[in-house]
Amino acid sequence: MEENMEKVVSMPRIGDAAPKFKAVTTQGEINFPDDYAGEWVILFSHPADFTPVCTSEFMTFASMEEQFTKANCKLVGLSVDGLYSHIAWLRTIKDKIEYKGMKNVEVNFPLIEDITMEVANKYGMIQPGEDSTKAVRAVFFIDPKGVIRTIIYYPLSLGRNFDELYRVLVALQTSDEFGVATPADWRPGDDVIVPPAGSCGTAKDRMEGKEEMHCHDWFFCTQKLDKDKVLDTILKK
Ligand code: BEZ
Repeated sequence: MEENMEKVVSMPRIGDAAPKFKAVTTQGEINFPDDYAGEWVILFSHPADFTPVCTSEFMTFASMEEQFTKANCKLVGLSVDGLYSHIAWLRTIKDKIEYKGMKNVEVNFPLIEDITMEVANKYGMIQPGEDSTKAVRAVFFIDPKGVIRTIIYYPLSLGRNFDELYRVLVALQTSDEFGVATPADWRPGDDVIVPPAGSCGTAKDRMEGKEEMHCHDWFFCTQKLDKDKVLDTILKK
């Protein structure tokens, strides 16, 4: 087998640089992740065009695209179908499908054609125990420096929760901006986790001295972080 035909199968991990690739999409060619330098990007796969769960997901994600754009995040989809299948499916969604109050939904983010499965294999999206000919529902959150920050996988039968994907994006950005961690089920306005006073870690200056820290024990301290402050910081960038 020639070197450039070799199948690269890998499972990128959190903290890795996002594997690079060039691909054809419904919005033209992309050079990933370089085209997205300085922005967050969510790369997500779906098993197949013209299938019901995927259709419900695309309608939901496309309807929320502006919300993600305001948080400096682009969306990029992928399946192992070809470009003409993608185009026909997205046209069908726009022209014919009405679902949960959504209709005339236009998918304006790029959808990658990956008939060779090159990209799907590079990103560990083909999981043969689930299906060897389709990508599972993978979600990669990639930061403005091109580093993978969160990975979530779902099986073929389970549609994703896009509010949760938005929550993850905001939580990652909040951790970066304020030097804090976010507890279970955190949403903007909830208390955040800060390093205990006297420990080596410190929350960034903007957190310090403004709100009282509450320590549940020596290793578990929380502090208020105003919802508007979180949203103003994230949404103005
Ligand atoms: C769906 O999107 O409905 C689907 C796709 C592949 C396998 C099972 C379900």
